[in-house]
Amino acid sequence: MFKQMSVTILTGMIVTSNVTSIEASDKEKGLLDPERIVNIAHRGASGYAPEHTMLAYEIGHKKLKADYIEIDLQMTKDGHLIAMHDETVDRTTNGKGAVIDKNLAEIKQLDAGSWFNDLYPSNAKMSYRGLKVPTLNEIFERYGKKANYYIETKSPNVYPGMEEKLLKTLAQYGLSSGKIKPGQVMIQSFSQESLQKIKYLDPNLSLVQLLEAKEIKNISKNQLYTIKSYAVGVGPSFKGLTPISSQMIREEHLLLHPYTVNEESDMHRMLDYGVTGVFTNFADRFNEVRQQHTSR
Ligand code: G3P
Ligand code: CA
Repeated sequence: MFKQMSVTILTGMIVTSNVTSIEASDKEKGLLDPERIVNIAHRGASGYAPEHTMLAYEIGHKKLKADYIEIDLQMTKDGHLIAMHDETVDRTTNGKGAVIDKNLAEIKQLDAGSWFNDLYPSNAKMSYRGLKVPTLNEIFERYGKKANYYIETKSPNVYPGMEEKLLKTLAQYGLSSGKIKPGQVMIQSFSQESLQKIKYLDPNLSLVQLLEAKEIKNISKNQLYTIKSYAVGVGPSFKGLTPISSQMIREEHLLLHPYTVNEESDMHRMLDYGVTGVFTNFADRFNEVRQQHTSR
């Protein structure tokens, strides 16, 4: 039933990506290989479907063939990790209020799809109405080891215990560092403290330090050394990234995954800078651009 619905939704909406032998050979490289360029479906296929819904993940993973699905985490009052970008439910559901003030049962009453139809009428679908906010457990339940996950601890200061809960959930689904291929689970955060806590809890998980545009603009070698002590890469805003800062990062053998790169011209520019992947709402578009770039 779900599969049928996805196919109908996708018809005529997404440019089908040609998976070529170039991409195939790229996929033979490990996810942490600095020669590999990864495609991260930001909040799922959020350019085409309501962000952070199972449908957005399904499209990003199956149809657009992104290397990763990206998941922002918030935590409910009763301690469930849910996929949501904002600390409140206001923007992406028909509800109001802070996630931390709601139990999962209340979150599950909300419609997480209709806002997308109102905001993007040209991409609106009846089937988006009434989509639910997924829990991290539900996402792992569906994909298990078949997907690669790029998970962000959002507002960790608001949610004490979030990191422990995340590690426990990973373990529950056999996704702890020893049980997965390297890089299959990436943990990202703007909070250095949160990443260092995760490093302490599971030293072998692959971590990525997110940076705002103003932070990456003036990044120093010393800051990169510090990041390198706990992370395998940086995820800066592409708006602050320059050829020089990109080179500095690559010289430190850190992965470089800028967010959120949606325009073709920016994708080309990022690839020219030598990034090792991008977060994008349009993973199909990046597949095309990446392919053109690799065939040059
Ligand atoms: O995680 C990379 C990027 O998603 C960070 O920005 O606000 O979209 O979570 P945001
Ligand atoms: Ca994010």
